[in-house]
Amino acid sequence: MFLSDKPKFFGRRKGRTIRKAKSTLLEAFLPTIKITPETNFNKQTLFVRPVEKVFLEIGFGNGEHLAGQALNNPETGFIGAEVFQNGVANLLTLITGIKEGDNLPEKITLLPGRNDNIRVWDDDVRLLFSKIPDNFVDKVFVLFPDPWPKKRHASRRFINPDNLKEIARILKKDGILRVATDHKVYKGWTLRQMAADKNFVWTAKCGNDWKHEPSDWVQTKYQRKAIREGRRPVFLDYKRV
Ligand SMILES: C[S@@+](CC[C@H](N)C(=O)[O-])C[C@H]1O[C@@H](n2cnc3c(N)ncnc32)[C@H](O)[C@@H]1O
Repeated sequence: MFLSDKPKFFGRRKGRTIRKAKSTLLEAFLPTIKITPETNFNKQTLFVRPVEKVFLEIGFGNGEHLAGQALNNPETGFIGAEVFQNGVANLLTLITGIKEGDNLPEKITLLPGRNDNIRVWDDDVRLLFSKIPDNFVDKVFVLFPDPWPKKRHASRRFINPDNLKEIARILKKDGILRVATDHKVYKGWTLRQMAADKNFVWTAKCGNDWKHEPSDWVQTKYQRKAIREGRRPVFLDYKRV
């Protein structure tokens, strides 16, 4: 535990029963990349090789964006935080190449040459924040956070003053916080929360650029479903000032 008062978490920690391959990955492979309370946040040692840049993805879901970004940026270290165990297990299938029904090898390894730049925090990211030093992170992704659209649930929305304060602290100057959402209520909420926070400025240059995927974007299943169902995502990049 990093915080004395454990914050209440309202989402799901477990979904469908985790099948054989995924539960083996969680038991046998996750510990090799998992961040624990003892982990030392040093850029020389946190990843398999020293890194200059660190990106943090909060609530990585099934891990497609995290795995894709890590593959596209092999020199950057990635910290992925996800509380939903089925999602963590899915990320492990992406980076090891092991699928349900495969014969499990005696020693599970990463797909050759891939994704050795990811460390995983498999719990609520709010319990990790205090462990991350100031100015440690270059980019933070909060992609399609749970919208909690009902007014009485607004305090559960992840983009809120307490979390923004921590994100501002761990981000370097000029670092980027990227928030994507396909939800009307969450879009308005995020724009208002961010406008009120003097630590960030919105990088949008024209009326439309935030309606298009950024050039370094990696699509996820969640996003494809939103588009199929007629919801248009927005991509909000904020610079730490
Ligand atoms: C709607 S899903 C989106 C998943 C993914 N970002 C995507 O775009 O496909 C939101 C995810 O955030 C995770 N999440 C919510 N609050 C979190 C927290 N405090 N710490 C870590 N993960 C969190 C949830 O478990 C869920 O998987």
